[in-house]
Amino acid sequence: MSQLTTELDATLAARAACGLSRVRRIVEARDAPRCRVDGREMLHFGSNDYLALAQHPRLVEAVCEGAVRYGVGAGASHLISGHFQPHESIERELGRWIAPCRGARALLFSSGYLANLAIVTALAARNDTVFADRLNHACLNDAALLSRAAFVRYPHVDIDALDRRLAASRARRKLIATDAVFSMDGDIAPLPLLLELADAHDAWLVIDDAHGFGVLGDRHLCGRGALAHFGMSSARIVYMATLGKAAGVAGAFVAAHSSAIDMLIQTARSYMFTTASPPMLACAIEASIALIKRETARRAQLSVLIDRWRIAAQSLPWRLLPSETAIQPLVIGGNEDALRVSAALWDRGIWVPAIRPPTVPRGSARLRITLTAAHTTDDVETLAEALRDIAAE
Ligand SMILES: Cc1ncc(COP(=O)(O)O)c(C=O)c1O
Repeated sequence: MSQLTTELDATLAARAACGLSRVRRIVEARDAPRCRVDGREMLHFGSNDYLALAQHPRLVEAVCEGAVRYGVGAGASHLISGHFQPHESIERELGRWIAPCRGARALLFSSGYLANLAIVTALAARNDTVFADRLNHACLNDAALLSRAAFVRYPHVDIDALDRRLAASRARRKLIATDAVFSMDGDIAPLPLLLELADAHDAWLVIDDAHGFGVLGDRHLCGRGALAHFGMSSARIVYMATLGKAAGVAGAFVAAHSSAIDMLIQTARSYMFTTASPPMLACAIEASIALIKRETARRAQLSVLIDRWRIAAQSLPWRLLPSETAIQPLVIGGNEDALRVSAALWDRGIWVPAIRPPTVPRGSARLRITLTAAHTTDDVETLAEALRDIAAE
């Protein structure tokens, strides 16, 4: 045993020496965007609760009502006996609303990770090929590896490179997989061009809209996400969005052609072999979707903050990535440097985690600053001021 743990300790020490150790901070209370973390009151710029719905009284109420009616846990997977009325009704509503094609349906998952595993493993196998943007979220990559399909990565949003790879492929079935909003960069994928390629090469287009759903769409009017942002629809689109980010709850859903949804239900192991998410959460999701549709002011506020931040950040010595979304990364470079800037912010009462490899490429460690509808323009100025201060030290 000691030899086994000694090996682990050596690996952990090597990671620590490269500035790659992760620590978990403990959130003791929150009143977004402020929270008490490890005993300190902090202003937080690291949450994906973009619309500030996670603490909304209507969601809390919906969870309580759902718990009283259905209990806390689902008790089984969806296919055994864990599929409750609130699951069914939110699936119907999301299928109708997101509607990537006529007659599309939606399917709920307990997490986005499981949803992506389900999509890729249900639609691709040996003899197939998954084409993936180099900056896709890790779970799309893991899904491709699990599917046993060939896995071809193309340079970030490089449409020509992808076209060449698709043209050279002899795969039985092709699947293009992309984040809609790249989670660590904040930029938006050229989805209409990707759909053109999917049409030209007879491929599925898997869109992971974890960071666009609720936020993007019709100039802040609807929050229907990336498909509404670009006004796209197609039976080739397999759309996935998470419900633990802008929707403020937990879980995810896939919206796609009815046949694709059936395939997921019948064959996806990450759907079949896991307990359904608690029905009380489906109640909260229903409440959240109603607010996403109705409360356009949340998206408008986010947009004001993004503009304000981009102006305020111009004078900083670090590279602000070209993002028009709530994800506003500031690339610092080295792991230790990113940790140092993050720690200096922490000392000033501001919490922005440093993101390092393997989450981002080597040499591009960054502060992943996220803005939410709960922030004010003063909060944004406070952050910019603190960073200017740190840069001058
Ligand atoms: C782009 C993207 N896809 C998928 C996921 C996974 O979603 P979940 O947290 O619901 O598992 C995340 C983040 O967690 C993400 O950023």
